[in-house]
Amino acid sequence: MNVRKAVIPAAGWGTRFLPVTKAVPKAMLPLLDRPLIQHIVEEAVASGIEHVIIVTYQSRGAIESHFGPSPDLESALEQKGEEGLLDQVRRIPSLADIRYVSQPGQLGLGHAVLTASQLVGNEPFAVLLPDDVFDAGVPVTRQMLEVYERYQGCVIALQEVPEEETGRYGIVKPEKKADRVYQILDMVEKPDRHEAPSRLAILGRYVLTPQVFDALRATSPGKGGEIQLTDALALLLRQEPVYGCEFEGTYYDAGKPLGWLKTSVALALKDPRIGADFRRYVKEMAADL
Ligand code: G1P
Repeated sequence: MNVRKAVIPAAGWGTRFLPVTKAVPKAMLPLLDRPLIQHIVEEAVASGIEHVIIVTYQSRGAIESHFGPSPDLESALEQKGEEGLLDQVRRIPSLADIRYVSQPGQLGLGHAVLTASQLVGNEPFAVLLPDDVFDAGVPVTRQMLEVYERYQGCVIALQEVPEEETGRYGIVKPEKKADRVYQILDMVEKPDRHEAPSRLAILGRYVLTPQVFDALRATSPGKGGEIQLTDALALLLRQEPVYGCEFEGTYYDAGKPLGWLKTSVALALKDPRIGADFRRYVKEMAADL
């Protein structure tokens, strides 16, 4: 079955980015001229997904306004003859069919995904975590979908991390199936470096079968007292195969200030409008360091 839907959890407090996230949802922080969540929706759309479900907590207002129509702004831009900006603003509401669902509390990533179960229904779906941004020739979600289409099972994005960083991610116990593809034998959420089953970390792109919802319902709170998606997938892999794909591309953690800066610099250097100027500036600045 074709994957038509994507879930984007955007309900966290954004504690790694306080105080800016006190009033502004982290998913609305800019990466160049677009909020983080628009980059993520665009990745889903570029991967062939038509329906997007955004899981929010109290942050719905700004996110919903961003993806909604803005008649006053549009007429102001029209009057000023700002055709380019007008096109950009008008394009946003038609990017995808976007629905919203509120998570009743901050009960974990697994719980956020479960909150979307009614809107997803009984079909496979993608999950995109907005903190995780990738610079990739083929969108990482598309890479996951290709593995799903071949193996017809859940697929998670994997990348090797240094041993001292295993405690920051879900870590898998892999068995190699093909080039860059593994069957997952087990997975652990944020293990101690001595208990990590490998150095292959889960990054924020998943394709999941709807069976994950039953696994989530059967999952007790784990790390941090939260319902963890990793724990639910560790249950699910006892019933059906779960695969991992070591994607091609560069990963940025845009959910914390240093990672966000690195992501912004990488995007700016590649941007056709400002890339050349910015590169010159960075070189001059580096020469002075
Ligand atoms: C979540 C997942 C974790 C995964 C990570 C990727 O953790 O629970 O398994 O490795 O995203 O970014 P978080 O970073 O939300 O704590």
